[in-house]
Amino acid sequence: MGADPLRRPEVLRLPTVAFVSPKGGAGKTTASMLLALGLVEQGHKVAMIDADPNKPLVHWASLPGRPNAISVHAAPFEMDLPDALREANGKKPDWIILDTEGSARVGLSFTAVKPDLVITPLASSALEALQALKMAEIVGNAEKKLRRPIKHACLLTRLPAAVRPKSLKGIVEQLRINNIAILPTGIIEKEAFRMIFALGGDLATLEKNGVYGVGQARTIAHTYVNAVKEFMGLLAPKEAEPAMAPASQPQAIEGRLG
Ligand SMILES: Nc1ncnc2c1ncn2[C@@H]1O[C@H](COP(=O)(O)OP(=O)(O)OP(=O)(O)O)[C@@H](O)[C@H]1O
Ligand SMILES: [Mg+2]
Repeated sequence: MGADPLRRPEVLRLPTVAFVSPKGGAGKTTASMLLALGLVEQGHKVAMIDADPNKPLVHWASLPGRPNAISVHAAPFEMDLPDALREANGKKPDWIILDTEGSARVGLSFTAVKPDLVITPLASSALEALQALKMAEIVGNAEKKLRRPIKHACLLTRLPAAVRPKSLKGIVEQLRINNIAILPTGIIEKEAFRMIFALGGDLATLEKNGVYGVGQARTIAHTYVNAVKEFMGLLAPKEAEPAMAPASQPQAIEGRLG
């Protein structure tokens, strides 16, 4: 009676996260990749559905070094989603991640995967709060369509590494006022995150190629994964404490939001 569907065993076995935003270039693909890589480092098996006609994840998967624990399934058009989901399920993953195309006319096609959580990446400017509001309304419509609750959280991304600008406080406040959840971890702007798509492979591949700051990237990825798990009720709050960002990694701490 009124049970949280995330508590249902079948959902617990296969958490499904969709990255959706009404704006292109918000950081969806990067954040979905980072979630997948972080989950794999924690021992999970992830199926990713690439619902962007530009196929950025399919391209990443075609490069050498894709971890066996990540499969990528293309759904360039809305009608491809059911097949891609079937194919993804066939890999017996323990997480499904959907990356969508950024578009002002978002639509409800992401409901095809029945997400437990929708993440909307936002840049750290007050204007971005409008995107979050728009997205919250869309998630509300998706809940009506699926007749089940869908969690929704924003993720601040491409944060400047060194200074925490005033605009960050502005957007955090605006989201709070509007009751829109925000993950307690942000993702900083980092060359290593771009290089994943240039080199292919995982964080270890970056390390092997001598990419600068992979240690910090890894810490951020784990903190972010734990924040997502905690938000979904899959991790007790104290387990979700930051992967104890060492003092030598101040950028990861900068990424934590108060
Ligand atoms: N944390 C980050 N650090 C460095 N670069 C980033 C980061 N996040 C995103 N980028 C860069 O910003 C650009 C847009 O990011 P991304 O492709 O992840 O956004 P998107 O929301 O998926 O875009 P689209 O709507 O076009 O699919 C890319 O060039 C990406 O490499
Ligand atoms: Mg994208």
